[in-house]
Amino acid sequence: MNTTVVILAAGLGTRMRSKQAKVLHRAGGRALVEHVVRSAGAVAEPGRIFVVTGHQAEAVEQTLAPAGVGFVRQTEQKGTGHALAQCAGQAAGLDGLLMVLVGDAPLLTQETLVRLRDQQAGSGAAGTLISTTVPDPAGYGRVITDANGDVLEIVEHKSCTPEQLKINVINSGIYCLRADLVWKNLSLIQPNPGSGEYYLTDIFEILRKQGHRLGAMHLLDPNELLGINTRIELAQADTILRARKRRALMLSGVTMEQPESITIDMDVEVGQDTVIEPQARLLGATKIGEGCRIGAGAILDNMTVESGAQIHPYSVATQSYVAARAQVGPFARLRPNTRIEEGAEVGNFAELKNTRLGPGAKSHHVSYLGDADIGAKTNIGAGTIICNYDGAKKHRTTIGDGVFIGSNSTLVAPVEIGAESYVAAGSVITDGVPKDALALGRARQTVKPEWAAKRRQKK
Ligand code: UD1
Ligand code: CA
Repeated sequence: MNTTVVILAAGLGTRMRSKQAKVLHRAGGRALVEHVVRSAGAVAEPGRIFVVTGHQAEAVEQTLAPAGVGFVRQTEQKGTGHALAQCAGQAAGLDGLLMVLVGDAPLLTQETLVRLRDQQAGSGAAGTLISTTVPDPAGYGRVITDANGDVLEIVEHKSCTPEQLKINVINSGIYCLRADLVWKNLSLIQPNPGSGEYYLTDIFEILRKQGHRLGAMHLLDPNELLGINTRIELAQADTILRARKRRALMLSGVTMEQPESITIDMDVEVGQDTVIEPQARLLGATKIGEGCRIGAGAILDNMTVESGAQIHPYSVATQSYVAARAQVGPFARLRPNTRIEEGAEVGNFAELKNTRLGPGAKSHHVSYLGDADIGAKTNIGAGTIICNYDGAKKHRTTIGDGVFIGSNSTLVAPVEIGAESYVAAGSVITDGVPKDALALGRARQTVKPEWAAKRRQKK
């Protein structure tokens, strides 16, 4: 059956004590509302998903733009019923089922939404809500059911009688309803006498009084329904999401040592038989191939690492590419737009930026290589520095295949060093070096025989 999803995300979230809208806070490497949009994708096409925005609407819409979902503005936050009513213009023509989700519940899974849709579709009811039992129901709407478990009404915490306050079956705020009945009856919701807000929850009593049946789908694990109100809950959600991600990766064939110490964003991909050591962090859209090793404390942000490559401990790498069987680190730094080609090796305290290190090339110790193209099998000696910046502009350096750059060389860009050439240790290279040449750019050594002995005798 066709399903339309509306995600309510217009609120500010006062208890976050933040200048940023609540749904933009991040857990598991994604904004809260991004998780909800992903889950919604299991039951609806992007063209049938609408997000109600209000607080920081532009920022929320920008974050979700890549998902291709629609947006509806709610300029004043007059309650969940009012929020849904804003969608009438865009979504009312869409038949089938209407699922309502909230933007601040990032743990809800695709499987649960599919179950909710299927239960509603096969029930003949006007709508189904997700309920759960919590030890402390304070603040939640209580679900009042009859002897058959059908829903009679939802009573908000503030409107509860002392008897109703004892009910610990709560409304998750997540519903799947017959779309035609919602759009026909939404305008019947009256402002709550206490708060003046239009409560979407009132639709249940309205439909029931028209003779419709309303059902509940009870979730045993309330964790999945965790709504984020404070930064403490934000941290809990982050912990749960990352644990789920690690579990999924381990089940798919990734080895993790001390997995609870490893941080992996939800969008990261890791291939079979890769080993991840303690304290590693894999962030953003990082993709790791098969049979790789990611060392302890390594931080990889938006990286691509091909199969068989090794990132040794405490390396920090961003927006770069490491080809098959290459080696990086320990203590290496790859800044954006770097390519370490097949079998190349980058050692400790080597920094590369916007640089290509050719196949089998090596830069083993203490170097800075910026804005450079380095050929295959070239060896960059310890302490080599490329001076890519003249104080105003950046310049490129090109080093051919099979070149030997002696230790402690300084290469002043722009400069070209031809294939199979040598640069003597300690050189300052300002002019191009032709293919097969030796370049020496340093003062000739002077030796004064017996100088030290004579000095000792004088004393
Ligand atoms: C709501 C339910 C309550 C349920 C609880 C579960 C109502 C009246 N009550 O209460 O039964 O137990 O969720 O967490 O619906 N929003 C808008 N525009 C508005 C108001 C809210 O977009 O004008 C959005 C918020 O950004 C939020 C969601 O709707 O994502 C829920 O609103 P919130 O104020 O948190 O509702 P609760 O009081 O928690
Ligand atoms: Ca809430």
